[in-house]
Amino acid sequence: MPGDLSGWRVLVTAGGTREPIDPVRYIGNHSSGKMGLAVTAEAADRGADVTLVTTVETVDTGATIIRVETAQEMAESVWGLAPRQDVVVMVAAVADFRPAAPSAEKIRRRDGLQVIELEPTPDILLGVSEKAPDALVVGFAAEAGSLDRAREKAMTKGVDLLVANDVLAEGSGFGTDTNQVTIFYPDGSTEPWPLLTKAEVATRLWDAVVRVRQASEPRQ
Ligand code: PMT
Repeated sequence: MPGDLSGWRVLVTAGGTREPIDPVRYIGNHSSGKMGLAVTAEAADRGADVTLVTTVETVDTGATIIRVETAQEMAESVWGLAPRQDVVVMVAAVADFRPAAPSAEKIRRRDGLQVIELEPTPDILLGVSEKAPDALVVGFAAEAGSLDRAREKAMTKGVDLLVANDVLAEGSGFGTDTNQVTIFYPDGSTEPWPLLTKAEVATRLWDAVVRVRQASEPRQ
């Protein structure tokens, strides 16, 4: 609805993090940033004051843009900004693991590389719900083949809404212009939405956020 997010401060993340192995190589994923940009553009269109923390270049959506590369950089930005937000939407595909000791110099082929030791990255989403207990927090879940584990994420990640997509399904997930998502609501109910454009998913998602926020407001 036009203007219904007016006065809201909203933080969105988009893209996939890049975790350096050395100055020229990284561990990454296939996120294009399209879903996060659609969520950003819709919120800005509806009047929100939006900050986008992104690993990818973006067109002007009316949001304040903060460019990051790694999960650590994204965590520092998001955790710093989260306490001032009304809503935080974590669409970014954040690496769960990163090289424990990235090389300062390019690793030469002739020197060989048998193993890359990995360590866990910070769980940004979990940190948001701790650092911004008053914000409405939306997580996304990238699942491969079944949404069984999405329910567990909805229960354990401290989110108010979880948007799950099967990244192996035709037309869904990484890089596509469409997405088929299932919403996990705070009362444990779920709602599968049809295959929609990412812009249409964003519209429905903000409609759902408005409903959940209204439902949690104390009655006058
Ligand atoms: O960018 P596109 O090409 O349009 O693709 C869209 C998408 C497939 C990336 C998007 O729809 C999506 O599913 N985003 C979530 C990707 C993801 O990291 O899912 P996950 O199930 O691994 O993580 C669950 C949640 O925890 C996510 O909100 C993620 O941002 C967050 N997370 C994950 C790891 C971590 N270390 N910190 C986090 O905050």
